[in-house]
Amino acid sequence: MRGSWRAAAGALLTAAAPPLAAPQCYGAVACARLQASSSRLNEAQWDLGMNWLHHVKKAGMDYYVLAAADPQTSAKLASAGEPCFEWFDEGAAALGLRWGEEGWRRVTWSRVFVLDAIIDYGFNLVVSDVDVVWFRDPAELLDRFPRADLLVGLDHGSSDNLPGDSGLEVSFHPNGSDFNTGAYLLRYGRNVSDWAHAFAKFFDKCPKHDQVCCYWLVRTEGVEPLPEPDQRIFRVWHGRITMAAIPVSIFESGHTLFLQQLHKDKHVEPYNVHATWTYGGLEGKKARLRDLGLWMVDPPEHYEKGSFVTVDLQLPEPPAAYNQWRENEDMVSLHLSALAAQLQQAYVGWALAVAAGRAFILPKFVCYCEKTWYGTVRCRIFDAQGYPLPVTCPTDYVFQPDQFAQGSEAVAGTVLDVREPPFLEHPRTPQEVKTSILTIRPSAALDCTDCVREEKGPDGATVLLVPPALKDAQLLPLLAPYQRFRVWRLSLERVGAPVRAFGGFAEAAASEAFDRRMERVLTTWCCRREGEALRYHKQRAIEEPLSMTPEFSFSSGPRQGGAAAA
Ligand SMILES: *[C@@H]1O[C@H](CO)[C@@H](O)[C@H](O)[C@H]1NC(C)=O
Ligand SMILES: *[C@@H]1O[C@H](CO)[C@@H](O)[C@H](O)[C@H]1NC(C)=O
Repeated sequence: MRGSWRAAAGALLTAAAPPLAAPQCYGAVACARLQASSSRLNEAQWDLGMNWLHHVKKAGMDYYVLAAADPQTSAKLASAGEPCFEWFDEGAAALGLRWGEEGWRRVTWSRVFVLDAIIDYGFNLVVSDVDVVWFRDPAELLDRFPRADLLVGLDHGSSDNLPGDSGLEVSFHPNGSDFNTGAYLLRYGRNVSDWAHAFAKFFDKCPKHDQVCCYWLVRTEGVEPLPEPDQRIFRVWHGRITMAAIPVSIFESGHTLFLQQLHKDKHVEPYNVHATWTYGGLEGKKARLRDLGLWMVDPPEHYEKGSFVTVDLQLPEPPAAYNQWRENEDMVSLHLSALAAQLQQAYVGWALAVAAGRAFILPKFVCYCEKTWYGTVRCRIFDAQGYPLPVTCPTDYVFQPDQFAQGSEAVAGTVLDVREPPFLEHPRTPQEVKTSILTIRPSAALDCTDCVREEKGPDGATVLLVPPALKDAQLLPLLAPYQRFRVWRLSLERVGAPVRAFGGFAEAAASEAFDRRMERVLTTWCCRREGEALRYHKQRAIEEPLSMTPEFSFSSGPRQGGAAAA
């Protein structure tokens, strides 16, 4: 049994969007691809779904409806009063839901089965995964491009459209371009309806996940562009429907928006961002949306409650001609050593946060190289060679955010309370937090171990000089009168090394628990290119582990041989 269509669906759909008779009606469908086997995954998807909904409403898209893929989600949506229908696939779990298993494949197809089931309600549709954030209503695109039946996004790293060209992607070809079906628009019509049904039927013949099968489906004989001026639109699927692609500067990805800001380069206004080009599964997607300041669904306490510590990273000047560098390995090694130095600084700030019982705001790390799943080309993805480095590191390039708080202290170490790097710019963070900042600056200019000195920074804000290298038991009493500041910003400007900024925990057990956790939170950097690794004797370092403690840790002291740089 492929799935079951519940009775409530029709009524809810009609409530969500007017019928076809009114020609300007659209329906947006979000397929929350929930996997019934794991409650954690469910929770994670629920958050994504609520974030999707927040932005859909903000964009004024009032014609949405959600497909709930399991009973819990259905109940939660119904009690929230959201238009939804049930689309359960009770058989998938038995076929295995891990990546590559048949149940997993079937779940990827659920958005196609939903399309199959609703297409003949006769709406034009915006079909969207829940890891897409909409900035504005895309329905107008169907009016702007009246000859296109199907408007898809792309997985490309760049667009060939000239700056100022907000039209369809000029270098899209249905046979050669990997398009993305996470967010697309469909114009209702007889042939489109036939195509949607054919797509769903294709499940039985096509062994891949739905997006790849969509490529195979549309690539038939008779694929050709329409005559000018519509040459960016193609006849596909036996010449029966037409399709075109929206450039990645307008339907953006986690890459084109966060790393490249491609819409600025191209002078266009984006409609959405799809949290792709991320690492670490759902948590990585969420982290990227947080990095973008687009994660809106944390409870109020996340923004309003408690106090915080962050760290001002001391960053080296980028080499003047860095963006002309051509040798991948030169760039990779610069990146790894620069990142190692930053992580060691963050380690010290993080320890202060833990010692003080405050949440840690991740600093904005600087990346001289991308993380990719293949060998980087000039430290970038191969089809985005032009954009400038360094960039702010996406959190998922560095951390496994699900490791911050998972597991017991005995096994996994100190449970961490963490905020995203743009926390102090987030619209939901109250002004009284944003403006309550104390810079704490360890400095040997103080020739005492039990005194502090207040200064005014260039911006008039308070800077507190404290003696360097104190442990928590000595430092925290000196900071007690400054608890009223919601944010303590540790400045490493006046110390020669991070180890001189803060001496860590007076209690060995606390150091050990903290270091246990620090060993779990990072991801790896990837990848060197096999072909050139040999020249540099790096064949065994295609992928590199990252470390919070390349120079020293509180529980084991300095690293032997100083393994700071890779
Ligand atoms: C597109 O791909 C289909 C299927 O492989 C093929 O039959 C067709 O000739 C191709 N068309 C073009 C223009 O490349
Ligand atoms: C539908 O497909 C047929 C070919 O099978 C074509 O002649 C017709 O123009 C198509 N209709 C539309 C509206 O594109």
